[in-house]
Amino acid sequence: MTTNPFYYGGAIKDEHFCNRVEEIKELKQDIDAGLNMLIYAPRRFGKTSFVLKTLDELKSKNTKYIFLDLMYISTQEEFINKYFNAIAQSLEQSSEKIVKFFKTVVNLRPNINVNFDHSGTPSFSLALNHEDKYSTLEDVMNSVLDFAKKNKIVVVFDEFQEIVNLELESKLRSIIQMHSNKISYIFMGSKKSLLHQMFMDKNRPFYKSVKHFQIKEIQRDSWCEFISSNFDKTNKTIDEKYIDYIITITKGFPYYTQQAAYEIWNLTQDLVTDDIFDETLKIIVSREEDLFALEWDNITPNQKKAIKIIIDKKGVNLYDEQYLAKYHIKTGSIQTALKALIQKDIIDKNTDRYYFQDPLFEYYIENKFR
Ligand SMILES: Nc1ncnc2c1ncn2[C@@H]1O[C@H](COP(=O)(O)OP(=O)(O)OP(=O)(O)O)[C@@H](O)[C@H]1O
Ligand SMILES: [Mg+2]
Repeated sequence: MTTNPFYYGGAIKDEHFCNRVEEIKELKQDIDAGLNMLIYAPRRFGKTSFVLKTLDELKSKNTKYIFLDLMYISTQEEFINKYFNAIAQSLEQSSEKIVKFFKTVVNLRPNINVNFDHSGTPSFSLALNHEDKYSTLEDVMNSVLDFAKKNKIVVVFDEFQEIVNLELESKLRSIIQMHSNKISYIFMGSKKSLLHQMFMDKNRPFYKSVKHFQIKEIQRDSWCEFISSNFDKTNKTIDEKYIDYIITITKGFPYYTQQAAYEIWNLTQDLVTDDIFDETLKIIVSREEDLFALEWDNITPNQKKAIKIIIDKKGVNLYDEQYLAKYHIKTGSIQTALKALIQKDIIDKNTDRYYFQDPLFEYYIENKFR
């Protein structure tokens, strides 16, 4: 049996990875220049895959990285310990050598615990009970400076907006400030409005401390090549028109495009047909339906009207009197509704139009009210 050449879910590598050639080049240059960066994009947009692929490619060039996902961290102690463990793991040494390094080179005060899982892999934590948390955090973060002498070091904080709940924003900023030009920090996350406030508000510690690194949808041509060639390789055929239909709905959003390709491939014996395409769409929408219905339930009546106007007007000229009358909504109210929808990360605005952060949510709503 041939394995499905497509994949969707968590971070991907190698044969599942499509394009991002330019972005990878740019990120490598920025890392080389020692910049700190903020990378935000909607959920499941391919942030983690992109950054990890770039860092893996840099591994042979004496670049080491430390990766910490803040998503499931809820206390300062957990942050210190998970970060400590990530640093220890990145040393790629025996556990004796790792403990020795922290005790003799870094002079870390708390005792170090080493635990082994069932496969014998060690994990490291600190006995923090009687220690000053902040000075331990500082020592842990500064320990990275020691291997920045030999290697280029990149520290990645994924879902960085969570740092606010840990009340560590200013502490972290003050330590990171002392590492400039020695360590590159990449702050990633999916909650654009929260991250925006953190990095764009004059009164916040991280104000203007980073380069804003943009990642975009993957373009049609790259998807065409990626999807067609993976069908060819597995002795199945897809007409380009179906790839175009997919892209019209997903707008090149990586997760949904890859998911559509995966499901279409699964349903196809040799050749993709209209029926297979329709069935695929149903499957994809049904997977998200509960979540979308909940999202719709959780917004106010005026926000619902604003969403319908965005769909009707394709994101431009939203204050058209005719539409405001049709939906019985005043200019001021639609303004408030749009602002709230941006804050909820449901919609966003570029220089010329409003658009949905999640293209499938747009498709779902559009079809519900057609
Ligand atoms: N460059 C790419 N080429 C093809 N598919 C991709 C690419 N990047 C992401 N994907 C698809 O999107 C899925 C999610 O990717 P990833 O976990 O990297 O996104 P993320 O933005 O980090 O998500 P989250 O918000 O959940 O952390 C992958 O499993 C894959 O199906
Ligand atoms: Mg991620």
